[in-house]
Amino acid sequence: MTTPAFDLGLTGQRALVTGAGRGIGLAVTEGLLAAGARVVAGTRNRTEALDDLVERGAELTVVEVDLSTPDGPGALVAAAADLHGGIDVLVNNVGAVRPRVDGFLATTDADWDWTFTINVMAAVRATRSALPHLIATGDGRIVTVSSVNARLPDPLVIDYSAAKAALSSFCKALSKQVGPQGVRVNSVSPGPVETSLWKGSGGVAETVGAGLGLDPGAVAEAAAAQAVTHRFTLPSEVADLVVFLAGRRSGNVTGADFPVDGGMTDTL
Ligand SMILES: NC(=O)c1ccc[n+]([C@@H]2O[C@H](COP(=O)([O-])OP(=O)(O)OC[C@H]3O[C@@H](n4cnc5c(N)ncnc54)[C@H](OP(=O)(O)O)[C@@H]3O)[C@@H](O)[C@H]2O)c1
Repeated sequence: MTTPAFDLGLTGQRALVTGAGRGIGLAVTEGLLAAGARVVAGTRNRTEALDDLVERGAELTVVEVDLSTPDGPGALVAAAADLHGGIDVLVNNVGAVRPRVDGFLATTDADWDWTFTINVMAAVRATRSALPHLIATGDGRIVTVSSVNARLPDPLVIDYSAAKAALSSFCKALSKQVGPQGVRVNSVSPGPVETSLWKGSGGVAETVGAGLGLDPGAVAEAAAAQAVTHRFTLPSEVADLVVFLAGRRSGNVTGADFPVDGGMTDTL
């Protein structure tokens, strides 16, 4: 194996990615593999993209798991730790959004529960299970995919915004506890990204378009226009930052959150 020119120190490292079937999680999986890591990909449904990687001989194991269940994240972590004898890197990527086009009063307890379960509790539970392994390595890393909505609350995604704010807060607080034990905890906060969450069937553009009587393309265009770059972020552009934070070149970066939003956030 040749050493990458910009060595992130990930060769042979044991990584776990949640929600890895497509979108950002898939791009992170590809990025970690390219950097030399051995990856366990947790996903609800196997995807052709993951199967292709396995067929091409990638150091990748796919675990099918529903991460919205109380035991799903722990089972995934246990499978990864058993397979590789430990975990060096946890990427909490799984998350989902349902735009509340009928407003706050139509958003039920069940809606709030669903949103907090998949966006907050899946990461809390995966982290709780993985932490002993990450501490045991003496150099563990957690990278969590939050959202620009953690800082830009939006009534159209009122519960998602609150959940992502909670998720970012969780990462910051945890970084203080586990830093002295050699575990770094960081998050990235994307703006709109070219994935099915936004542009797929039942995604944000389609749902908001249907709710507001707009063409989904126009909804996406309006979102892109909020970035100073006037475009969506690519999944690989989020993944590159996640992989950097998961690697050893970012060795003294912890408790930090990084927007990847084309300049959409207009404060420092
Ligand atoms: N796309 C954006 O614009 C954007 C912006 C900011 C933040 N984010 C965040 O980035 C992360 C990834 O988003 P994405 O856009 O890549 O989403 P995506 O395209 O919808 O992909 C999500 C992945 O997670 C899996 N997943 C969903 N629910 C699951 C469950 N209960 N158990 C196991 N796996 C599950 C999906 O599997 P299935 O195929 O089975 O559904 C899929 O592989 C999320 O945390 C999201 O909030 C996204």
